[in-house]
Amino acid sequence: MVVTIDGPAGAGKSSVARATAERLGFAYLDTGAMYRAVAVATLARGGPPAERARALEVVDARRYLVDGRDVTAEIRTPAASEEASRIAADPALRAALLERQRALLAEGDWVAEGRDIGTVVAPEAELKVYLTASAEERAARRARELGTDPQVVLADQTLRDQQDSRREHSPLRAADDAVELDTSGRTIDEVVAEIVTLAGDARR
Ligand code: DC
Repeated sequence: MVVTIDGPAGAGKSSVARATAERLGFAYLDTGAMYRAVAVATLARGGPPAERARALEVVDARRYLVDGRDVTAEIRTPAASEEASRIAADPALRAALLERQRALLAEGDWVAEGRDIGTVVAPEAELKVYLTASAEERAARRARELGTDPQVVLADQTLRDQQDSRREHSPLRAADDAVELDTSGRTIDEVVAEIVTLAGDARR
């Protein structure tokens, strides 16, 4: 079974997807981390992102190598975030990562998070969730994580949201049959419990 969790930055996707996978006993796929790992490699080496994507090795949900180099420690930096959002508009890169993601999801039970998992990567998934939260709450959460100013995060986030939703290829949007959950003012545990129930229903 595949459960997809899409939505904008700061909606709580990573915490929710990770905890949902744990609760269901499913594997967890963080596709944003794949874009980020390629971004670290293109910042370091240059060259076409799709080429770097072919040298990407997903060891597990917590470890990423590109050209044999462990880039895990660098994928959450602001520079990696910015570069990931930029290269995510490249259709050749999206095609290369799509192939990798579909191959991974073809076997076993997964919770997969990203921006286009329910719409493009796994449109046949049994359960599709689209997580949202108010822009202010999303920025406040990220600022707490990063220990920075919420206003700066909000400005940055608005830019990334626009880039992600306005790009021509696989823009950020909810699948028509996705369940939309607003996480504003809700705890991770509450949201996870709801998704676990939905997954149980979808299985029947
Ligand atoms: O979820 P995240 O912040 O780790 O994602 C990093 C970037 O990658 C973000 O700008 C959106 C992009 N991305 C994408 O285009 N498609 C995905 N399936 C996952 C992430």
